[in-house]
Amino acid sequence: MKISAVRGMRDILPEETPLWQHLEAEIRTAFGLYGFRELRTPLVEEAQLFSRGVGEATDVVHKEMYVFQDKKGLPLALRPEATASVVRAYIEHGLYAKGGLAKLYYLGPMFRYEKPQKGRSRQFHQYGVEALGSLDPALDAEVIDLSSYLMERLGLAREGLFLRVNSIGCKGDRVRYREALREHLEPRRDELCPDCQRRLSENPMRILDCKREGCQPAIRTAPRSIDHLCPDCRAHFQEVLSHLDLLGIQYELDHTLVRGLDYYTRTVFELCSRDLGAQDALLGGGRYDDLVELLGGPPTPGVGFAGGMERLVLVLQGQLKKTEKLDVYIVPVGQEREVWRTAAWAASRLRRAGLSADVEYLGRSVRKATQAAAQLARCALFLGPEELAQGQATLKDLSSGKTVPLPLEKLSSPDELHPFFEPEENGDVKGGCGGGQG
Ligand code: HAM
Repeated sequence: MKISAVRGMRDILPEETPLWQHLEAEIRTAFGLYGFRELRTPLVEEAQLFSRGVGEATDVVHKEMYVFQDKKGLPLALRPEATASVVRAYIEHGLYAKGGLAKLYYLGPMFRYEKPQKGRSRQFHQYGVEALGSLDPALDAEVIDLSSYLMERLGLAREGLFLRVNSIGCKGDRVRYREALREHLEPRRDELCPDCQRRLSENPMRILDCKREGCQPAIRTAPRSIDHLCPDCRAHFQEVLSHLDLLGIQYELDHTLVRGLDYYTRTVFELCSRDLGAQDALLGGGRYDDLVELLGGPPTPGVGFAGGMERLVLVLQGQLKKTEKLDVYIVPVGQEREVWRTAAWAASRLRRAGLSADVEYLGRSVRKATQAAAQLARCALFLGPEELAQGQATLKDLSSGKTVPLPLEKLSSPDELHPFFEPEENGDVKGGCGGGQG
C-alpha cells in the first residue's frame, strides 16, 4: 500500500530547499538587525494554552486545532501559532525579571486544520517576532518597519505590497465597539450569511472579516473601531501612524481589519501581496497588551507579527532561482579497485578542504557519468589507472570544458588545493583553465 503525505502537509524537496534556506537566512539577519533573538519552543503545548490565550471562540482554536491526549489523558495541541507559546515561555522562565524589553523571534512549523488551497496548508511555517515589555507606539511602528524592511531585503517590489492598519482599542473600547456593531447589524440580520448571523451574538467584530458578497453592504456601512477608542488608545494610534510617516511607510487605514485571534488590543496590521489572490496576507500582527497577564504573568504589554513562509515562497519563487552545485564530481575511470579506493579517499580529502564533493557511485559509463556531473557540479575530477600511476587526476571545468592535471598530493593540502577551484575573472574555474598551479 502506498502511503502519501497527510493532506495539507507537504515535503519540501531538495530543489526547493535552497530558496527556503536563503529566505530563512535573510529573515534571521533582518530580525537580528532589529535586536531580536531566537527562541525555540516545542511544537506541542497544552491545549488550554491556546484556548485561553488565542480564544476558545476563534476559528483557529475552535475549528482548526489538532488536539489529542497524551497517555495520561492530558489534552495537548500541535501549536497553531507561536505568540501564545512565546508568552508562556516568557512567563515560565521569568524573562520579565531580567528587566528591559524581551525581543524574541521564531521560525518553524505551525498546524491548522484548514481547507488546503493556494497559500493555505495544514502544516505551514511561520517566521515571527514578539517584543514584550513596552507600550511605546514607536515599538509598534518598529515592528511594522521590520516587516517592511524584510520585504525590501528579499527584493519584493513596493508596488506589489500594501499595508493595512487599524486600531481595535483596549478591552473597554471593544465592549463599546461591539455594542455599536450589534446595534448597526441587528436590524440587518436577514442580509447576513448564516455564519455572520451566529457571529452577531458571539462576536460581532468577526463579521467585519467576512468575504461573502451578501454581507458587504452591512459591513461597508458599519461603525468604525477608531471612532470608539478611549483618549489613551486614540493618542496611541495617532502616534503609531505618525511614526510610520516618519519612517516613510505607506499604509491604508482599514476599518474592517480586526484579525482572527482574540488577544489583540490597539494596533493591528497586515502586510499583503497583490500576487497572492484570496489568501493575500504575507504577514499579520499587532499588540496584545493583556495576554501575558491572561496567561498568569505580570501585566506586560506586547507587540509582534508572524508571516507564512509558504506565501513568501509563492511570491518569490519566480524571481529567485537559486541552484546549488557541488564543487566536484569524481568520475573513476575503469573497474580497478585501486581507482575506486582513491576516488573515495579523494572525496574525503576534498570535503575536509571545504569543497563539496561526490563520487559516481552508480558505475555508469564515463560519458554518462560526465553528463550527470555537468548537471550536478562545477568541476569533474577524472581518476584513471594510468593517471593514478603518475600520481595525478584530471580536473575539468564543466562550464568551459578546460582540463588541467591535478597532482594527488595536493589533495592533502587545502592551501595548495584551493587555487585550483578559485574562479577566474571570466568565471571559469582557475585550475581548470590552466591558470592555477598544476
Ligand atoms: P495569523 O494571521 O493567524 O497570525 O498568521 C500569520 C501569518 O501566517 C498569515 O498572515 C499567513 O501568512 C500565515 N498563515 C496563517 N495560516 C496559514 C495557513 N493555514 N497556511 C499558510 N500560511 C498561513 C498569527 O499567527 C499571530 N500569532 C501573529 C502575531 C504575532 N501577532 C502578534 N504576534
